[in-house]
Amino acid sequence: MLAFIACGERVKTLALLPCRRLGRGDTAIPATLESKRMRQRTCLAIVLAAGEGTRMRSALPKVLHPLGGRPLLEHVLTTAKQAGAPDIAVVVGPDHAAVAATAQRIAPGARIFEQRERRGTAHAVLAAKPAIANKSDGNLPDDILVVFADTPLLRPETLAELRAALADGAAVAVLGFTPIDPTGYGRLVMRGGELIAIREERDASAQERLIGFCNGGLMALAGEHALAILERIGNANVKSEYYLTDAVAIARDMGLKAVAIETGEDDVRGINTKAQLAQAEAVLQDRLRAAALEAGVTMTAPHTVFLSVDTKFGRDVTIEPNVVFGPGVTVDDGATIRSFSHLEGAHVGKGARVGPYARLRSGAELGPDVHIGNFVEVKAAHIEAGAKANHLAYIGDARVGAGANIGAGTITCNYDGIAKHHTDIGAGAFIGSNSSLVAPVKVGDGAYVGSGSVVTSDVPADALAVARAAQTVKEGWAKRLRQLKAAGKKKPAEPS
Ligand code: UD1
Ligand code: MG
Repeated sequence: MLAFIACGERVKTLALLPCRRLGRGDTAIPATLESKRMRQRTCLAIVLAAGEGTRMRSALPKVLHPLGGRPLLEHVLTTAKQAGAPDIAVVVGPDHAAVAATAQRIAPGARIFEQRERRGTAHAVLAAKPAIANKSDGNLPDDILVVFADTPLLRPETLAELRAALADGAAVAVLGFTPIDPTGYGRLVMRGGELIAIREERDASAQERLIGFCNGGLMALAGEHALAILERIGNANVKSEYYLTDAVAIARDMGLKAVAIETGEDDVRGINTKAQLAQAEAVLQDRLRAAALEAGVTMTAPHTVFLSVDTKFGRDVTIEPNVVFGPGVTVDDGATIRSFSHLEGAHVGKGARVGPYARLRSGAELGPDVHIGNFVEVKAAHIEAGAKANHLAYIGDARVGAGANIGAGTITCNYDGIAKHHTDIGAGAFIGSNSSLVAPVKVGDGAYVGSGSVVTSDVPADALAVARAAQTVKEGWAKRLRQLKAAGKKKPAEPS
């Protein structure tokens, strides 16, 4: 099984732009040695999620909006964990119970801190002071990573680069990038290859505003100096806010070293609006498609296929154009997903064929070589090996035994207006077209159901059930009708 996730190994190889450390010599260290060095250092990640997100114009908190089928916050927490931060603190705003609950679901050990008033990024970091200062074992973390919950495309290796800079002796490491339009970003003031200060745009001189090298926002701080630096940050600036960015100049004042690591714009792409959310989705989808292709998935029009970060593919899977994978889908070896199908929370077995125009909902479990055809919806149902539902059917809360054939127009009537009920269709059963199976009901192994039946009671194995009005035939009736019409007479009464 070849699996990929947004921040996982396969996607990690898709670095759009390798990180570059500025103001230092060549520091290339073999990856394995580097990761060993990192494992020996303790790390705390502080995730800032207290923003109001007003520009999203949504009742849903900004960091809970989905990207690639996962909340923004989940991307960041996953990346922090992958970058080797076992300790996580999440800073949430007041009335953000839903954000806190999501953080705890994704990172059960995470500590949640509330920032009651929004007084700047440094103020937000200090809301997590107990995590920085009073670790239960009495030790300070070696590395502190400050990450923004609305910057979901950040890759773990970029955070690892920041950590490596701390391991090399920096007290502060920031992530720089050169956006096409630097408006709104803090500018990195460099001198002789050294990072001197970060100037927020509002506070920058005309000269400083010409600088194209900008602050990505995230920061790594050496644990032993973090609190001393953070507590010296004041709010003497245009917004009267406590800026995390002031950590650079303060560290230098204290005789400590600050460095900038350069990365690509996508890595630090922040989300404040629905338009930026859509742009980030486009970047993520490209990463996911590239990872799927790299893993051997055949896609004739990858740009029309939408994936989730947890979509998993086996070998020799084919995906036709215009397919959507919601969260929680696994497709096994040799399966084909044909055009215009929509899948979520589903498992497609080896060699199975789905679509065109199929819908697999949560709990759809297709065994090997199953065929699910056009306009067939499957929900919470096990379709066992080789069973077929090729046209126009709804199979919900059901089991369909191996090799069974579900005729066009078959409906499992699973809902009585109050509760859901189960339908059990045995192996090798044949359900004639346009049948309604009124659950709870069982059709035994090898049984037949005549077309157009409304089946309300169990059908024994190998039996035939026909549950429809008997057919009436009136010989010559139509011919007589035409004769009466031709003679200008009235239509005869309907046959009884
Ligand atoms: C920040 C940087 C800027 C950088 C930019 C990159 C500072 C002072 N400025 O500016 O140099 O170029 O990011 O995108 O750090 N937050 C809180 N509580 C607060 C304030 C902010 O939790 O009181 C959180 C926000 O939810 C967000 C993050 O911190 O996740 C950044 O805040 P934001 O207001 O977006 O900072 P920028 O003005 O973008
Ligand atoms: Mg921002």
